Amino acid sequence: MTARGRYIALEGFDGSGKSTQAELLATHLDAAGTREPGGTPLGASLREALLHSSPDHAPAPRTEALLFAADRSQHIATVVAPALEAGRDVVTDRSYGSTLAYQGYGRGLALDELRSLIDYASRRPAGASTELPEIILPDVVVLLDVPLVDADRRVHHLDRVGGEQMSLLEDAAAIDPDALQPSGDGPDRLEGEALQFALRVWRSYAELCDAEPDRWVRVDGTGSPADVSARVIEAVATHPAMAD
Ligand code: TYD
Repeated sequence: MTARGRYIALEGFDGSGKSTQAELLATHLDAAGTREPGGTPLGASLREALLHSSPDHAPAPRTEALLFAADRSQHIATVVAPALEAGRDVVTDRSYGSTLAYQGYGRGLALDELRSLIDYASRRPAGASTELPEIILPDVVVLLDVPLVDADRRVHHLDRVGGEQMSLLEDAAAIDPDALQPSGDGPDRLEGEALQFALRVWRSYAELCDAEPDRWVRVDGTGSPADVSARVIEAVATHPAMAD
C-alpha cells in the first residue's frame, strides 16, 4: 500500500510572500499546490463572498468563521484527503492557522471555539482511508516571518493610515495593539481599527508558532524569493513529520 502523502501549510501575514513560496515548495516536492480559501469550485464562490463583499454587506465575525470553515471542509474532503490518500504530498497556501490568527486574534472570537470548528471542518471524510488521521491538520506549518512594515509594503492595506501611526509599524513588535485606541469617526476611526487588526493578526503568528512547536516552524521570510525558498525547503526537509 502507498504511504500517505504529507500535508504542508504556508502561513503568515498578508504580504509575507506565502503564495510565491507555496508554489516554489510545491514544485520542489512535486506536490499538489492548493490554497484556502478558494481551493475548490465551491471554495472559489466562498472566497468571492468572503473577500469581495461590499463593506455594507460584510459578513459578521462568526459568519466569516463559518464560511472559512465551509471552504476548509470542502477543500479537505475533495482535494487534500484524496491526494494524501493517493500518496501525493499537498502544499497549501494558508490553513487553520489563518482562522486562529484572523478570526481569533484579529476579530476576537474565542480560540477554543474556533479550534472546535477547525476540527469539525477538518474531519477525515467518510469512506477515506483510515491511514489518514481522523482530523486532517497539516503535518507541517511553515510560518513565513516578515516584519509588519515589509509585509505592508507589498499589500498596502495600511496605506491610508496616517504618517504618525504608520511610523508605529516600524517597531510593530513593541506595540500593544490593545493600547491603541482608535478614536474619532469615519475614515480616521476605520484606519485606526485597520491598524489595530493588522497588529493583532501579525503578532499572533509568533504565538501560534510557539504554541505548537511539533507542527510549526518559523522561517525568516526576508530576502529574495530564492533565498527564502531555500530556507523553506530546508525547514520542511528536516522537519520530524517528514521523516520515514
Ligand atoms: P488572499 O488573497 O489569499 O491573501 P494572501 O495572498 O495574503 O493569502 O486572501 C486570503 C485572506 O483571507 C487573508 O487576508 C487571510 C484571510 N483568511 C482568514 O481570515 N481566515 C482563514 O481561515 C483563511 C484561510 C484566510
